[in-house]
Amino acid sequence: MPTKKLLIVAHTPSPNLHTLAEAVLSGAQHADTENVSAQLIAPLKATEDDVLSSDAIILLTPENLGYMSGAMKDFFDRIYYPCLEKKQGMPCAMIIRSGHDGTGTKRALESILTGLKWRIVQEPLTCRGDFQEAFIKQCEELGMCVAASLDAGII
Ligand SMILES: Cc1cc2nc3c(=O)[nH]c(=O)nc-3n(C[C@H](O)[C@H](O)[C@H](O)COP(=O)(O)O)c2cc1C
Repeated sequence: MPTKKLLIVAHTPSPNLHTLAEAVLSGAQHADTENVSAQLIAPLKATEDDVLSSDAIILLTPENLGYMSGAMKDFFDRIYYPCLEKKQGMPCAMIIRSGHDGTGTKRALESILTGLKWRIVQEPLTCRGDFQEAFIKQCEELGMCVAASLDAGII
């Protein structure tokens, strides 16, 4: 029976983003991480209870107009104060899919996560430029790495 929960909050308005989210989930569900259950949820559907009941979180957002998606921003707007006191130190990781940049989104996410006092446990991954098959592997590996670290109790 899994004892730890890894929440993947992913905004996937395009087929490529959907593929990346599925890759994160697939990595997180690797057979070696049997103590971790991974759940993939869209930011508009994710609630404060989803966050409060999680032991780690992975965020995936496209960069739109130099910032995270509006849906991801809405997620933080809703969960920020309900989770602020209770989830300090929560391990988290972020993936940004950007057409040509990604820096504005990375900066904005780091700022919000600093406010929440969550711990960024992986180097932020930016999948930048024309879509590449390599992005899928990178997302899968990030999911696997966070899940394995959670499983081993090192994050
Ligand atoms: C309205 C809109 C604004 C965008 N703004 C940015 C941007 O500011 N920086 C950037 O790097 N990419 C930008 N993009 C590109 C998206 O990040 C990219 O299309 C998205 O991640 C989906 O990737 P895909 O084409 O692989 O499905 C924008 C796309 C749209 C539709």
